[in-house]
Amino acid sequence: MLPPVGRRQVEVRLQVGVHVKDVEWNRSDGGDSLTAHAIEALERYLTKAPVDHVRPLDGGAGHPRKMTLILQGGIGVAAKPGDSAQMMKQARREVAAWILAVELGLSHLVPATVLRQIPTSEDSGPGGIEGSAQILWPRFKTALAEAITPDECSADVSWPIAILDLLIANTDRKEDNWGTIDGLPRAVLIDHGHAFESADSHSMFVDRHREEPVPTALLDQIEAFGLNRNNSRLPTVLDAEESEAVFDRAATVLQYATLTIR
Ligand SMILES: Nc1ncnc2c1ncn2[C@@H]1O[C@H](COP(=O)(O)OP(=O)(O)O)[C@@H](O)[C@H]1O
Ligand SMILES: [Mg+2]
Repeated sequence: MLPPVGRRQVEVRLQVGVHVKDVEWNRSDGGDSLTAHAIEALERYLTKAPVDHVRPLDGGAGHPRKMTLILQGGIGVAAKPGDSAQMMKQARREVAAWILAVELGLSHLVPATVLRQIPTSEDSGPGGIEGSAQILWPRFKTALAEAITPDECSADVSWPIAILDLLIANTDRKEDNWGTIDGLPRAVLIDHGHAFESADSHSMFVDRHREEPVPTALLDQIEAFGLNRNNSRLPTVLDAEESEAVFDRAATVLQYATLTIR
């Protein structure tokens, strides 16, 4: 019998945080990036799939009425209804962070996020109001719960997050807005409602690498993002100026090739 195509057993070393341990994972070898077709299908599913179950989602006070939805097919999402103009703005920013991660080739950092109809209460029927719906990372553990800091991440984990946080001007990368998937060596991100609005980010990942030269591979990804500007989906969820500011920040990073941005 042939071995499964494109898969291999790998030993990965958990470099994120203080708990260094060896774990076994099946890792796909078939390249890291999602195809445009797959992204479209995933987003269509998240947008259209009927909601089977609803319950409150505990956590920070950032959104008072956030929920866990279980969509038909078994995918769980964190839903944040756009209860007010401000909440709707935050919902769009959640989606913008996903779109930017995809367009930078960093989609492994942010769970797929869409705007969709969210039930208005736990027992509501069809309908609802528009808001963001983001796939729940499986076995997610916050950095707070794990007591890990950006400084303890290996550079190949922290650099892409620094670039993403800088380009989205994230002001909310607190230790409960990033974490790990239990046993995986990468860090993953959540909660991007507070981004795209200020000139600078408040992110310990950016601070860690400020004034350092940006790794070449990331510069290439930022350059490709800039070249694809005319096809970017950011303007579908951000104001024109907010979207332009992302490309301006990208151009500045490319110009200096260091994190000198203010
Ligand atoms: N995509 C996700 N995957 C896994 N857990 C999530 C996700 N989104 C939210 N959570 C969980 O819900 C908590 C609160 O969600 P968050 O988006 O941070 O809302 P708030 O704006 O209230 O801080 C998080 O700390 C995390 O435990
Ligand atoms: Mg949060």
